[in-house]
Amino acid sequence: MALALSQSANSAIFAAMHFGSLTLKSNLFLSPLAGYTNLPFRLVVREVGGVGLCTTDLVNARSLLGKNHKALKLIETRPADSPLAVQLFGSVPEEMRDAALMLENLDVASIDINMGCPVKKVCKVGGGSAMMTELDKTAALVREMVNSVKIPVTAKMRLGWDDDNLTAPDLARALEDAGVAAIFVHGRTREQGFGGTVNLAGIRKVVEAVKNIPVIGNGDIITPQAAKKMFDETGCAGVSIGRGAFYDPWIFKRTLYFLADGELLPEPSFAERVRVIHRHLDLMIEVFGEELGCRMFRKVAPWYAKRFGPCHEFNKRVVQISKRAEFHQVLENYIRWRRQFLDDNGELQPRFRPPPMVASFMREPASTQREQIPVPKGPVEVW
Ligand SMILES: Cc1cc2nc3c(=O)[nH]c(=O)nc-3n(C[C@H](O)[C@H](O)[C@H](O)COP(=O)(O)O)c2cc1C
Repeated sequence: MALALSQSANSAIFAAMHFGSLTLKSNLFLSPLAGYTNLPFRLVVREVGGVGLCTTDLVNARSLLGKNHKALKLIETRPADSPLAVQLFGSVPEEMRDAALMLENLDVASIDINMGCPVKKVCKVGGGSAMMTELDKTAALVREMVNSVKIPVTAKMRLGWDDDNLTAPDLARALEDAGVAAIFVHGRTREQGFGGTVNLAGIRKVVEAVKNIPVIGNGDIITPQAAKKMFDETGCAGVSIGRGAFYDPWIFKRTLYFLADGELLPEPSFAERVRVIHRHLDLMIEVFGEELGCRMFRKVAPWYAKRFGPCHEFNKRVVQISKRAEFHQVLENYIRWRRQFLDDNGELQPRFRPPPMVASFMREPASTQREQIPVPKGPVEVW
């Protein structure tokens, strides 16, 4: 793994990273978020800049092989959406191998395997041998995939079942032996769900467990400072950002600048947020059609609004849109309504500004009780 900083003609800063046979423009990754990391969102993030590799939502290997419409939609891509990793989910080795081959033929850049949690609850009482059996089986499945394709195969895992079963270092070591090109690790246990603090020391143990491959840290990175702290305290080679990118598609660009020279770019202006939200909806409509694209956008728009300042007027109306024109009307009305909170320069008055974002692992212990980043409903056990 090698990391190099360079400065392009337009002064954008890139931290290039070797990732298996790929060279990525940066060591910042977009995490898979089922229901969210579709083609329009990935294109938005790429256009704003700074991301090295984007991953799709998790895709069921069997559905993909069966050419299921939903599975094919999940891997829909275009040249601007590159390099792209597809995350696969499945436990039948032949299906995982064949799905990997299919993706390689479609020019996907890399394949990520969703490991969810490596240990079933029963293993907690079943003891070490049960865990090793599971681990051997997993490693065999991965080895078969790695040997069948030339593109990098990676794995994404949590730290383990609970604090007494932090199995990720062992699993990472076994997967490195099986040939994975990188490990992504969300610094929480299955038991934690999305609550509590991301365990940086736990991620560090995974970094220390592998010999040569990069480990990418993940969890609660919602500011450039949080990304830096994760790099500094875990020694990880890259960081992967999920929900933080939904609040703030600009997070990759701002993080690259911050890592390169400590410069914290200002948060994007309201006008820039409005520009990007329009672009995002246009892409949703291009990819999903007007009716479905607008319906899907009902759950996307409120994420942008979290940094608008007072936004209940917007959130109340945007969940009813079915047409592009309706969205434009909602936004126009909201912009008019929002004026009451502005000062003479058109900026939000200080008391209406959203509070600064602080990652779980950057907060004072007393304030970590309530999880700050919302978690939409879904199968947490596989995330
Ligand atoms: C709505 C939602 C969907 C998710 N979908 C997936 C998924 O498909 N595959 C996966 O490996 N992780 C999934 N995750 C977990 C994220 O990739 C990530 O590990 C986790 O959210 C922590 O990172 P963050 O704090 O940057 O969001 C999902 C998380 C959320 C909140």
